[in-house]
Amino acid sequence: MNPLAQQLNDTIQRDNPNIHAMLSRLGRQIYFPKEGILSQSAEAGSKAKQFNATIGIATEGGIPMHLDVIQETLSAYNPKDIYPYAPPAGKPELRKLWKEKMLKENPSLADKHTSMPIATNALTHGLSIVADLFAEEGDVVIMPDKNWENYELTFSIRRGAEMVYYPLYDDNWMFNSAGLREALFAHRDKGKAIVVLNFPNNPTGYTPGREEGQAIVKAILEAAEAGMRLVVVTDDAYFGLFFEDSMHESLFSSLASLHPNVLPVKVDGATKEEYVWGFRVGFITYAAESEALLAALEQKTMGIIRATISSGPHPSQTFILRALQSPEFEAQKQEKYRIMKARANKVKALLDSGKYGDVWSYYPFNSGYFMCLKLNTVPAEQLRTHLLDAYGVGTIALGDTDLRVAFSCIEEADLEKLFDTIYQGVLDISQ
Ligand SMILES: Cc1ncc(COP(=O)(O)O)c(C=O)c1O
Repeated sequence: MNPLAQQLNDTIQRDNPNIHAMLSRLGRQIYFPKEGILSQSAEAGSKAKQFNATIGIATEGGIPMHLDVIQETLSAYNPKDIYPYAPPAGKPELRKLWKEKMLKENPSLADKHTSMPIATNALTHGLSIVADLFAEEGDVVIMPDKNWENYELTFSIRRGAEMVYYPLYDDNWMFNSAGLREALFAHRDKGKAIVVLNFPNNPTGYTPGREEGQAIVKAILEAAEAGMRLVVVTDDAYFGLFFEDSMHESLFSSLASLHPNVLPVKVDGATKEEYVWGFRVGFITYAAESEALLAALEQKTMGIIRATISSGPHPSQTFILRALQSPEFEAQKQEKYRIMKARANKVKALLDSGKYGDVWSYYPFNSGYFMCLKLNTVPAEQLRTHLLDAYGVGTIALGDTDLRVAFSCIEEADLEKLFDTIYQGVLDISQ
């Protein structure tokens, strides 16, 4: 074992042996090299006043070398904020502002101990860091049966973990925290589980209410008290897009300081919140009682980043930083929120109007980008292909009965036509 990795492990073991026990083999072995190229050039950055011949970028006239064909389209930006490598953990000012934003949007985090957010190559990368650090062959990853399909690649195919699903809704169409509890206790013998919570949920657009949120936390607490070590990941990809009276905070706040057997990890980012899907800017944030432990987890996270992508994209981080600093940011975001909310409301009004009879019902939704129809009379995949071929309408079929509709990319004025067409598609097939 590398001595730096050993040091980090010793700190984690000392401050919370349960978290040490959650680490995967890779999680134990990884470390961020302190004496490598990055740290030597960081040292040179402050001390090498005559010549700095350290890191692998090129400079000219004291600024990063660059091509005019690139810079002429980016002239609002200083070359130093675009071309050099971003630090492996992300631009410090961006990390600071993201944390401030997180605290403002999640007021109950105020008295909790959390790390600085570490920048990732968007949320998928944050999730894969969690998988690298904590998922081992045979570990269980527990999540609702309606989930983002990529979790399976990230946790199971890539890291060998076993996926365990429970029904998302209970008989009253509320979040099935009893199902979560059952899934946890069914794997109590393993002594460890990774729990993924994703609200607003992809694909259903569901966020639980406050009491449902408390029931989720209670189920997790009970499993922790029964001796299970739990890495609980909140995938907050669609955070903030809450259109009704659901929870408006991430469960990360309630999970922080819950129990020494619970390691809350928040994965979030600008992708969906700031409508910058291709920018690839996300964050991973840990909650734990000890600063030294948080610092060790940060070092291990930076180790994975260094080993996989080395560092995230600098231009995108600069773009997001500038947006967060802009006085117009809040107002512009609010304007887009209103558009998304109006679309969600319109979808609900259409579905509740009775005009589509009982060919389908819909899963409760109140947030995010999507909603899901539950088809009563025709198979989802057959309807999907028919809608594409006959009407040029694209939807996502999930399982036998579910059709996901992304109202996020349909103008409000077009929603009625969209659902009328889906309805017509059902009638065509039923004949
Ligand atoms: C629930 C959920 N998590 C994570 C992601 C991935 O986000 P990113 O594009 O930032 O990697 C998505 C994207 O569809 C998602 O729906």
